Amino acid sequence: MAAAENPLGAPTVSPGFDLSRGFDSRVRLNNGVSMPVLGLGVFQSAPGEPTRRAVRAALSAGYRLIDTARLYENEADVGQAIRESGVPRKEVFVTTKLWNTDHGFDRALAAFDRSLSALGSDYVDLYLIHWPSGGDRAESWRALRRILSEGRCRAIGVSNYTIAHLRELMQHSDVPPAVNQVEFSPFLYQRELLEFARGQGIQLEAYAPLTRARRISEPALSHISKAHGKTATQVMLRWSLQHGVIPIPKSVHPERIRENAELFDFVLTDEEMGAIDRLHDGFRTSWDPTGIP
Ligand SMILES: NC(=O)c1ccc[n+]([C@@H]2O[C@H](COP(=O)([O-])OP(=O)(O)OC[C@H]3O[C@@H](n4cnc5c(N)ncnc54)[C@H](OP(=O)(O)O)[C@@H]3O)[C@@H](O)[C@H]2O)c1
Repeated sequence: MAAAENPLGAPTVSPGFDLSRGFDSRVRLNNGVSMPVLGLGVFQSAPGEPTRRAVRAALSAGYRLIDTARLYENEADVGQAIRESGVPRKEVFVTTKLWNTDHGFDRALAAFDRSLSALGSDYVDLYLIHWPSGGDRAESWRALRRILSEGRCRAIGVSNYTIAHLRELMQHSDVPPAVNQVEFSPFLYQRELLEFARGQGIQLEAYAPLTRARRISEPALSHISKAHGKTATQVMLRWSLQHGVIPIPKSVHPERIRENAELFDFVLTDEEMGAIDRLHDGFRTSWDPTGIP
């Protein structure tokens, strides 16, 4: 594959995932656990039937990764929808997260128990520290390691961690995070973080991969999407996959949930990847964790 242009003038960080199995493509995390390369996010999906309908639609469309959090107040709906879907629990990769007010060893253990109980499951696939702020994150990490060693989650990781936060964690722990979930989109192409994470064997996951729909009408995206007969959102998600970053787009609309999964029948060229890379302008929908000490 020829080197493509990017904002820093060096080759892109690709290759991305092996997508030869289409929707069934998986990536192997640093502890050997296999994780789907595309998921459904449920932040701001209203608790109750709206979340349950979205999760059922996603599972029926072939999604096998659902991303929730204690903060979203819909863990119980995620658990219920999985049971209603008829898809065996062990085929679904469920992520949930420790909220900022639950930092600390004992508090984190208790928060995890509450999440398990809400999900109605005896394990989660991936448990993340949601933010590096709000309390003693090192003690929270110790709790996550305990949970992992007890077999009550299959992998542990972090979210919104910068390179400095990751370095700090790895200095004090011999268990590295399997995943770092961060905001990542064509307008926030976190290349340095991606390269660092890849070098350390940490899988990046992209939240707000569609910029919460705020930048999906960008002319450069529509130009590329028209060339492939796809939508701008599909191009944004495919760009993430080709960078080897797991996107977890959120929608409560079944037709959009299906649209966001039709990513495996086209390939962005190196030139297109480079053009999308250059859309980076630092746009964020969420808080910037850079200043968190
Ligand atoms: N770790 C963290 O701190 C963190 C922070 C934020 C998000 N997340 C996770 O990442 C997931 C995704 O991020 P996000 O929800 O912030 O933003 P997003 O996925 O970039 O965008 C979601 C928005 O885009 C709309 N949308 C989805 N598909 C569309 C399509 N095909 N065409 C037009 N509009 C479409 C949705 O509307 P409708 O629902 O009305 O379709 C919703 O308003 C979250 O749900 C959550 O699981 C994690």
